[in-house]
Amino acid sequence: MIVEDVPAKATHDLRWRILRGSRPGARVEFPEDTRPGAFHLAVLHADTILAVASFSTEATPYRPRRSAIRLRGMAVDGPFQQHGIGRLLVTTVVDRLRTEGVDVLWCNARDSAAGFYARLGFEVEGEGFVLPESGIAHHVMVLDL
Ligand SMILES: CC(C)(COP(=O)(O)OP(=O)(O)OC[C@H]1O[C@@H](n2cnc3c(N)ncnc32)[C@H](O)[C@@H]1OP(=O)(O)O)[C@@H](O)C(=O)NCCC(=O)NCCS
Repeated sequence: MIVEDVPAKATHDLRWRILRGSRPGARVEFPEDTRPGAFHLAVLHADTILAVASFSTEATPYRPRRSAIRLRGMAVDGPFQQHGIGRLLVTTVVDRLRTEGVDVLWCNARDSAAGFYARLGFEVEGEGFVLPESGIAHHVMVLDL
């Protein structure tokens, strides 16, 4: 397995199937995708994409004045979940961001995935909230790098 930078379009299939429940017409593009410096990582095995996540510069009020990258669209293909692939993707970006001197990696974590981020050292910040477009409960989670 390798972790590689991929174009935003390469994330769309997993975003749609894993994060949007394969709903016809569901939005798979994020406004963050077009930000300067945004990048997307995929875990690949023999040219098959097993996992994706996307990263862009965005401050968080939970770490004022710290340089911060936001993680969005974290998705591992169904049969490959719970095999360490999500961990591989996040530890890869953490190494990269530490090398670049970034202070913080954060995300709006689905409550159903909060245990995953907690295992990787992220801390819950603030009250939970429900995104109106999906009805899915989230908390902000922050990893100090
Ligand atoms: C959540 C997700 C990204 C995790 O990736 P993964 O490859 O399945 O997770 P890993 O196998 O790398 O797990 C790493 C650790 O987190 C734990 N973990 C994984 N998913 C978890 C979850 N949903 N809840 C609690 N713990 C979880 C694993 O048991 C493992 O623990 P360990 O350190 O004791 O071995 C993946 O399961 C997924 O895509 N889920 C559906 C979409 C989703 O919820 N995305 C996140 C949106 S914010």
